[in-house]
Amino acid sequence: MAGNLSGAVGRRDNKREALRNRPEGPSAEASPLLRRFASRITDAAQGMPILDVACGAGRNAIFLAQLGCAVVCIDRDLTKLEAQLLRLKDTPLRPASARLTLTKLNLIQDSWPFGPCTVGGIINVHFYSPALFPLFKNSLALGSYLLFETIPGCGGNYVELPKAGEVRLALGDAFHLEFYREARVGPARSEAATVRLLARKRC
Ligand SMILES: C[S@@+](CC[C@H](N)C(=O)[O-])C[C@H]1O[C@@H](n2cnc3c(N)ncnc32)[C@H](O)[C@@H]1O
Repeated sequence: MAGNLSGAVGRRDNKREALRNRPEGPSAEASPLLRRFASRITDAAQGMPILDVACGAGRNAIFLAQLGCAVVCIDRDLTKLEAQLLRLKDTPLRPASARLTLTKLNLIQDSWPFGPCTVGGIINVHFYSPALFPLFKNSLALGSYLLFETIPGCGGNYVELPKAGEVRLALGDAFHLEFYREARVGPARSEAATVRLLARKRC
């Protein structure tokens, strides 16, 4: 019990530090959905690495690393993240940066390198490729989380979005959807929808 309590206090302290030390700049703020569910995701990871799929400049990965997680940052172009890590070298975020592993991967063309039940969580924000969902299912440990968020629906964006119901259908059998929000966008005939979800791999 004492161990659990001190773990909870430690996590709270980590979270406070994460908020104090977040990198500068508007694009550096982690996804609000991730900030909302971070403690559920990190608790379930049980020390296993969390993947940030299509990590960009790493705002979400850096946030999780500040909470003490090991994060594998995956993108076909790691230059933005590398530049960000250079900027953080002489800041209080340096120790968190050391918990990131950078993996250059084309998520459409390259083969998926993570084996079954080897991953403690997956963050997939603003990049949608439905072919990845079965790979996520396979690699996530039982009881761990997938957080998925499409790009927002503005202008002509809707052409890159899933059809309403498509994501729920793709994940429903292997995951319990603990949070799921879908909003129709674009012309009615497109059936496009934005999706934000937190899904837990069924045990
Ligand atoms: C809109 S950014 C999102 C970045 C990050 N997830 C975030 O929320 O800040 C999309 C990212 O997807 C990456 N990307 C696009 N196509 C990719 C592909 N085929 N394989 C790997 N990464 C890809 C881009 O390089 C870019 O960093």
